[in-house]
Amino acid sequence: MNNPAKVVVIGPGLIAKGAHIPHYQKDPRTEVVAVSSHSMASAKEAAEETGVPGYYDDPVQMLEAEKPDLVSVCSPNASHFGDVMAALKAGCHVLCEKPPGVSPLEAVEMEQAAKASGKHLLYGFQNRFNPASIVLKRAVEAGELGFIYHVNVTAMRRRGIPSWGSYTDRAENGGGPLMDVGVHMIDLAMYLTGFPKPVEVMGVTHRRLGHKPGVGLLGAWDPKSFQVEDLATGLIRFENGMSMSIQTSYAANIGKDEHLNVELLGDRGGAETNPFILYQEKYGALFDAKPAYLDESFESDSHARQIRHFIDLVTGKAKPVNVPREGTAIQQIIEALYLSASSKQSVSLAE
Ligand SMILES: NC(=O)c1ccc[n+]([C@@H]2O[C@H](COP(=O)([O-])OP(=O)(O)OC[C@H]3O[C@@H](n4cnc5c(N)ncnc54)[C@H](O)[C@@H]3O)[C@@H](O)[C@H]2O)c1
Repeated sequence: MNNPAKVVVIGPGLIAKGAHIPHYQKDPRTEVVAVSSHSMASAKEAAEETGVPGYYDDPVQMLEAEKPDLVSVCSPNASHFGDVMAALKAGCHVLCEKPPGVSPLEAVEMEQAAKASGKHLLYGFQNRFNPASIVLKRAVEAGELGFIYHVNVTAMRRRGIPSWGSYTDRAENGGGPLMDVGVHMIDLAMYLTGFPKPVEVMGVTHRRLGHKPGVGLLGAWDPKSFQVEDLATGLIRFENGMSMSIQTSYAANIGKDEHLNVELLGDRGGAETNPFILYQEKYGALFDAKPAYLDESFESDSHARQIRHFIDLVTGKAKPVNVPREGTAIQQIIEALYLSASSKQSVSLAE
């Protein structure tokens, strides 16, 4: 690309203003030309705050008028599907924030639309760019852990109920912590283990704290409009024999404000992502291995790295770190966990 690629952003809220817009603006290969929001007032305010020239209250109008090359979809979860489909139809490459829509049906349609359009659709699973994830992926691929037979996925918050946006609205968010923080760590676990096929899923959800007033570590949320679970847990059995246990919360009576971690148990070694450590048995002894030095290629800001990757991808300088089919697989797991929780029965995904 000789001229900077034109970027528009749909949903100019926290993540757009904190990560997407500034990282595009720092990269000479891209120029953010406009934002669109649900109201002209909020679009204008965000455009002025971020120094973006254009603003709209309709994403389709924006796509028609600005003819962008790239689109970041940062709108509330329930809008991801419509925004991604509109952006692909307009011939754009798309970076869509997690989750990949709010159901497997939506994820499948987005996957098919991306394939038909020939454009890239990348999901905002930036944890794959954390230094620990990069090193661990290499270690897993080199066979350091052997066969990974069990995974513990943790995305727990003590009182981390988001007080902004639509994170506690069932329809707008598609679910609670499972659809929000849980989806990140499930994605990371699936990525690190090579996306094995899930065959049986058991999930349980609880709402014990969110609907009552309490201390808010992410601001004061409204307990009266809290419609989602505050804790979800589950167990998944995979075709290759692996099992995965998941626990994720917005609020729980635990000792850490937030704990995001993927723990891999393999027959040659184990590992955790946060803090990053490898566990091995060698020479008749048990070892804990931690990286002593990570060079500058391990940029710690995973959002910055993700935006750079997206630009590299669309300029043909990189292969995608995630593909739409993986977003569909994640949504199938989440739907099965919710279905199992509501039916109080395990759900079979075997064909
Ligand atoms: N990858 C991450 O770590 C991460 C972190 C935070 C949020 N997110 C995701 O980003 C998305 C936005 O989250 P946020 O925290 O920035 O929320 P937010 O509420 O701060 O921002 C959402 C923005 O979208 C606008 N909006 C509302 N309805 C809209 C619509 N129908 N069409 C277009 N815009 C609309 C709002 O005015 C606001 O500007 C969510 O999908 C969330 O899951 C990802």
